[in-house]
Amino acid sequence: MKQIIIITGAGKGIGKSIALDFAKAAVNNNDFEPLLILASRTLSDLESVATECRSYGTETDIIQTDIADITEVDRLVTTTMEHYGTIDCLVNNAGVGRFKALGEMTEEDFDYTMATNLKGTFFLTQKVFVVMEKQRSGHIFFITSIAAETAFKSSSLYSMSKFGQKGLVETIRLYAKTCNVKITNVMPGAVYTPMWGEVPDTVKNVMMMPEDISVPIVQAYLTTQRTSIEELVIRPVCGDISE
Ligand SMILES: NC(=O)c1ccc[n+]([C@@H]2O[C@H](COP(=O)([O-])OP(=O)(O)OC[C@H]3O[C@@H](n4cnc5c(N)ncnc54)[C@H](OP(=O)(O)O)[C@@H]3O)[C@@H](O)[C@H]2O)c1
Repeated sequence: MKQIIIITGAGKGIGKSIALDFAKAAVNNNDFEPLLILASRTLSDLESVATECRSYGTETDIIQTDIADITEVDRLVTTTMEHYGTIDCLVNNAGVGRFKALGEMTEEDFDYTMATNLKGTFFLTQKVFVVMEKQRSGHIFFITSIAAETAFKSSSLYSMSKFGQKGLVETIRLYAKTCNVKITNVMPGAVYTPMWGEVPDTVKNVMMMPEDISVPIVQAYLTTQRTSIEELVIRPVCGDISE
């Protein structure tokens, strides 16, 4: 049976790598038939990732979505349910960060960060969880960050939003345990993705790559039905990179 998997922020970085690794995991595995639904704001990114996923033989759909807009979040869930009738996995990966000193953060930075990382993640999770609760099955991943429990000077708003996501993870787990739904909190350290912009080679050389995060996620999804991998903390060998 097809596994319906929604991945937000699937157009770039870690989300793109998660989509590709789900597709690759289905090659030569008769027990795993994913149907990927890729969601983010930039259609051209989604189209190019979808083409790559399909090249591995994985059925892939695109739903252009800004998760900061609740109407679009609604549309993502209702369209998925109308077309496929189930949601087996949600990867809450879409996220934004603006990194600067505390005193330079503006109200616009605040609203922008919280609208995606907190409001969007909350309402998408809420709507998908209703479906999974009824099904009595499903798996929700949250790509939070080590910034969900460690402070960095340039990450005040980002950290606030990630600490908040961790609060949601711990709350939803209380509900999920009673209805056979798995919750995995993925907490990566520094990963080389477009989120970082330009980085000097000396830094890039010690950062993780998106596949360092996406491969364990796919493994956690494919673990036995009786097991829930609740947390993945994944750091560069050298530890945290930031200030
Ligand atoms: N890179 C790291 O070092 C690192 C470390 C720990 C945790 N994380 C977390 O991992 C996740 C992915 O980060 P990344 O590094 O891969 O970032 P990225 O390269 O900037 O990619 C972020 C993805 O999210 C999408 N996105 C952003 N806002 C969105 C919105 N409102 N609605 C829908 N999609 C949205 C972006 O596409 P559009 O702009 O086209 O919408 C893009 O596809 C984030 O939650 C981030 O906080 C990253």
